[in-house]
Amino acid sequence: MKSRNAILSSLGILAIGMLAHSCTGNAPTEKTSSGRDPHSYTDPDAANFRHLELDLQVSFDSQRISGWTVYHLDEVRGDSLALDNMGLVIQQAVRIDEKDSAQVPFRVSAADPILGSALKIPLTPGTRRVRVHYSTVPGAMALQWVPARQTASGKLPFLFTQSQSIYARSWFPCPDGPGIRFTYRARIQVPPEMMAVMSASNPRQRTSDGIYHFEMELPVPAYLVALAVGDLTFRDIGKRTGVYAPPQWIDASHWEFADLEKMLEASEQLLGPYRWGRYDVLVLPASFPFGGMENPRLTFLSPTVLAGDRSLVSLLAHELAHSWSGNLVTNKTWNDFWLNEGVTTYIESRIMESLYGKEIADMWSILGLQDLEKTIAEKGPESPLTRLKLSLDGLDPEESMSDVAYEKGKALLRFLEERKGRNELDRFLREYFANFEFRSNDSEGFFEFTRKHLLNDDPALTDTVSKWIYSSGPPLVRGNYSTQSFEDIDTAQSQLVAGHSPAEINSANWTTNEWIYFIRRLPKGHDSTDCLLFDQYFNFSQRKNAEVLSTWLEYAILNGCAGHVLVTAEDFLCSVGRRKYLLPIYEALLEGGMGAEAERIYARAKPGYHPIARESIEKVLTRKI
Ligand code: BES
Ligand code: ZN
Repeated sequence: MKSRNAILSSLGILAIGMLAHSCTGNAPTEKTSSGRDPHSYTDPDAANFRHLELDLQVSFDSQRISGWTVYHLDEVRGDSLALDNMGLVIQQAVRIDEKDSAQVPFRVSAADPILGSALKIPLTPGTRRVRVHYSTVPGAMALQWVPARQTASGKLPFLFTQSQSIYARSWFPCPDGPGIRFTYRARIQVPPEMMAVMSASNPRQRTSDGIYHFEMELPVPAYLVALAVGDLTFRDIGKRTGVYAPPQWIDASHWEFADLEKMLEASEQLLGPYRWGRYDVLVLPASFPFGGMENPRLTFLSPTVLAGDRSLVSLLAHELAHSWSGNLVTNKTWNDFWLNEGVTTYIESRIMESLYGKEIADMWSILGLQDLEKTIAEKGPESPLTRLKLSLDGLDPEESMSDVAYEKGKALLRFLEERKGRNELDRFLREYFANFEFRSNDSEGFFEFTRKHLLNDDPALTDTVSKWIYSSGPPLVRGNYSTQSFEDIDTAQSQLVAGHSPAEINSANWTTNEWIYFIRRLPKGHDSTDCLLFDQYFNFSQRKNAEVLSTWLEYAILNGCAGHVLVTAEDFLCSVGRRKYLLPIYEALLEGGMGAEAERIYARAKPGYHPIARESIEKVLTRKI
């Protein structure tokens, strides 16, 4: 199926590959005590994980990764080691002590539908290393095997992993909780015409034999171990920054990300030294289910960020910010996801302000607050899922992924900035990252550290921060943001409502932010005349910018124009895999009474979606039909 969508055809992207779910089973979720990670079987007290070795072969023919992992352990305390495992075929476990190594009997527990199973390996106090020989299954949740016709070149297939939140366990057996860190080395063998890259030290060029060696000598949690294999080329941006992309996209990517080195410098100014050495980015096929993923040293990006006008680079600022909030100081469990995403979203805004000014940064902040309002209205202000500190026992960590973590978390930091002043907050942030570096932290740790090092025990502020973290509902205080551009748009909108023609609106200098704000504020109704008129004046349906086009499609479907945009919507849904864009359009189709169309389009688009995107869309389709 060749994509007809304007955005992607302009980039030469075609649509994507076939997968089934591997995560099955019916045993009840294991009960966990409050401090424990509810999403991992690994007991962090059984031993200290120090280092991981991976030796893997990637076979596109069988759609499997196979080989072995070795864990180097210190201070073995338990008599058995439980590793997380989702659908892996385990062939052999070997226990290695100072002198000997021996195959040992292993057990795989019944699979839980959310968590997968525990791979249990007996230990002795003398165990130093444990080796596991295994293979993945086609359909593994973390992996997308993208067929050649859906890649930039159309010639070679592509493989990428997406381990966050709990899918690392579907491609290597691991202690798959964010509270356990280890260094890693890998030897990866791929077809010789392809390049392999990881969240580690990376090659600049293809090797002739398809064998690649990687090293990450700083400790990371399993969800930050990442691999991509495909037809890739590299180009430097600055001294420490560069971009990997398919040869067909390298020029566009290099241009779009030209400010990367400056962003890195601005981040260091704000947060203290960048600890990871290089910061490169990788442009993936369009089926990547996220905008970006902060894999250390190598952020993975959706090609939808290649807008052609650098208007979506806040995403780069976001992923870069994770080099501190998330990768350096990591949420202890997914209950504290806001510590990764909320702090990052705040820093993203500061990076944007420092490079492009307050006007641009505030525009994104206002749009973010709008998203948050909508999310809280949908979930209900009493919903426990509107709290920052979550309680996800028995639930999929996917539930934590909402604007609440991102925007309510960001709003807390913005509140602290407004109360204490920027200098104080910045000093505090640098102390925070230095104090917790290469460790995990939970909401309680954040609260205590903030109380002591920023709030100086001020009772009123302490109480507000505690409520902000532990209560449901919207942020306690709305940040002070204002932009002239959005005020001008408000004026233009009132003129539209008063009967002025769209032709009178001066939109010549608008960029993505203005267009999103404008579309969100268009008059709502079921009369297609308005909707058609707007499309005629502003050519929304022809936009190449995925952010603008998806906002428009959602509006048009819900406001009397569904028939008019259906072909465009179908093209879009069949060529982009970024979940943030897909879900609102499927939801709008359902809400607009077009459930059958949604089902039909999904059946067509599904082979091209990543397993993670499929799972979410299927939830929406079954919930609403
Ligand atoms: N780490 C997230 C992506 C993620 C979160 C993947 C949870 C799996 C589970 C990443 O940093 C992110 O937030 N991406 C956003 C972009 C950002 C600018 C809001 C996305 O992909 O939309
Ligand atoms: Zn993020």
